[in-house]
Amino acid sequence: MKGIILAGGHGTRLYPLTKYISKQLLPIYDKPMIYYPLSVLMQSDIRDILIITNPEFVSIYQDLLGDGSHLGINIEYKIQLEPKGIAEAFILGEEFIGDDNVCLILGDNLFFGKSLSTLLLQCIKNINQNFSTIIGYEVEDPERFGVVEFDDKNHVIGIEEKPKIPKSNFAVTGLYFYTNDVIAYAKSLEPSDRGELEITDLNNMFIENKKMLIEMMDANKFKWLDSGTFMALHESSAFIMEQQKNSNSQIALLDEIAFLKGFISKDNLRNNLKNLSSDLQDYL
Ligand code: DAU
Repeated sequence: MKGIILAGGHGTRLYPLTKYISKQLLPIYDKPMIYYPLSVLMQSDIRDILIITNPEFVSIYQDLLGDGSHLGINIEYKIQLEPKGIAEAFILGEEFIGDDNVCLILGDNLFFGKSLSTLLLQCIKNINQNFSTIIGYEVEDPERFGVVEFDDKNHVIGIEEKPKIPKSNFAVTGLYFYTNDVIAYAKSLEPSDRGELEITDLNNMFIENKKMLIEMMDANKFKWLDSGTFMALHESSAFIMEQQKNSNSQIALLDEIAFLKGFISKDNLRNNLKNLSSDLQDYL
């Protein structure tokens, strides 16, 4: 299974913060935002990862994460010239994906929860049975997201992108697992009225073909944060700070995850310490 992190876009909703820096590099408390989606892929045992970003930022990501070998993973990079839609990730990533299945995570989506690994494992099980999988999460403001529509037997019958009158309170999160057909499906998409290859159109194709499952992320057990507004950015940082303080543990500390997953040795971990703050060095 390959992994793609989509970390492009203009980030205009966060101007001036994102005028000269990629949104997905902004700090969420003590780590760059992209560490959080990257940690989700690593927790899913996905070790071949493509980061897609804008031409002006790619070298910064390369400086930060390199080829991933210090984390025992492989990171490649691809440029998206213009934000032509989330589904373009599979066209840009075609060569990288090859014959594999693929997990896409949006670079500004943050997921937490003790049973996250169990949920991720279930998504991978679905994929192995030839079902692509999206994750649903109950929200108070569904009109900001892709929204799931259910029939009276609770089967998913479709998704609507940012509907004015949402048919449920279940948003589609920015974490998607696809079978390899996703490349062909993405190539067959037509740009929407706003000129984008829409991830929602792609998901609806899988739903129509009865090849899509939805896993629900229970909001009592999991937290899903997107960082699309100043307030959300601030709340995400506050949430991470609280969680880390209360549990005396670290969220999205990539070196720790790589070590616990057995991707790197103790010597590798020791070698990585020089790139961390003295607090994080002491912790590790
Ligand atoms: O966060 C989940 C939501 O993400 C889903 O519920 C929606 O169905 C989905 O369309 C998406 O909605 P957003 O309004 O959050 O999409 P946005 O255009 O803001 O893009 C999400 C991230 O992907 C953002 O960090 C920028 C990046 N992006 C987006 C596009 C369109 C790219 O890197 N390239 C692109 O072409």
